[in-house]
Amino acid sequence: MAVSSNKQLPANLEYIQYEHRLEAQYLPAIRALISKDLSEPYSIYVYRYFLCQWSHLCFMALDPKDSSLIGVIVCKLEVHSSHSPPTRRGYIAMLAVASHFRGRGVATALVKKAIDAMANRNADEIVLETEETNTAAMKLYEGLGFIRSKKLHRYYLNGNSAYRLILLLKAVDPDQTSLYDEHQVT
Ligand SMILES: CC(C)(COP(=O)(O)OP(=O)(O)OC[C@H]1O[C@@H](n2cnc3c(N)ncnc32)[C@H](O)[C@@H]1OP(=O)(O)O)[C@@H](O)C(=O)NCCC(=O)NCCS
Repeated sequence: MAVSSNKQLPANLEYIQYEHRLEAQYLPAIRALISKDLSEPYSIYVYRYFLCQWSHLCFMALDPKDSSLIGVIVCKLEVHSSHSPPTRRGYIAMLAVASHFRGRGVATALVKKAIDAMANRNADEIVLETEETNTAAMKLYEGLGFIRSKKLHRYYLNGNSAYRLILLLKAVDPDQTSLYDEHQVT
């Protein structure tokens, strides 16, 4: 049946980590895939900022038939020293799946890979922003355990608001209740 073969598709795709040597082959496709659905396009420098420093936190889903790009996730991981104690915060900057491959678990597989990679590097939490009207992204992330931490009014150039979502990877200290309160938005 078509539905079950669709559901099996992600297992048949190739999931690989981005590497600098792949820039010529994949950066144009990454830009094209991500900019397709963006309200504000990123310059090449934004892509290089992430991909050069955190290539180990960027994953691609490829069609094994021709190695073409089907999905990509781009992230970073930084220490926020202004927090006490300092927080290792992962950030999902970009995520996109080619429209004809959507709804088959490709984004879920990419986000899980990114979460694992950041957790393995001792991240305390992972954050991202997404448009409040982006039902697919909200369902995807909330299904993976992300919670709404803040509403960002008129966050995007198109005037749309965003939610900041957070996935807490470490146990929250109950004595620091303000930390959790800050992260919980209804
Ligand atoms: C958001 C996006 C990455 C999801 O990719 P995807 O591969 O279709 O996602 P998945 O198949 O892994 O779906 C994950 C969950 O999201 C939800 N979902 C996906 N598409 C949906 C849609 N169109 N409407 C409602 N829910 C949807 C489902 O609940 C699904 O869980 P389920 O399989 O348990 O039902 C994809 O729609 C996309 O590239 N959109 C444009 C770019 C974008 O919005 N990126 C996110 C920026 S934060």
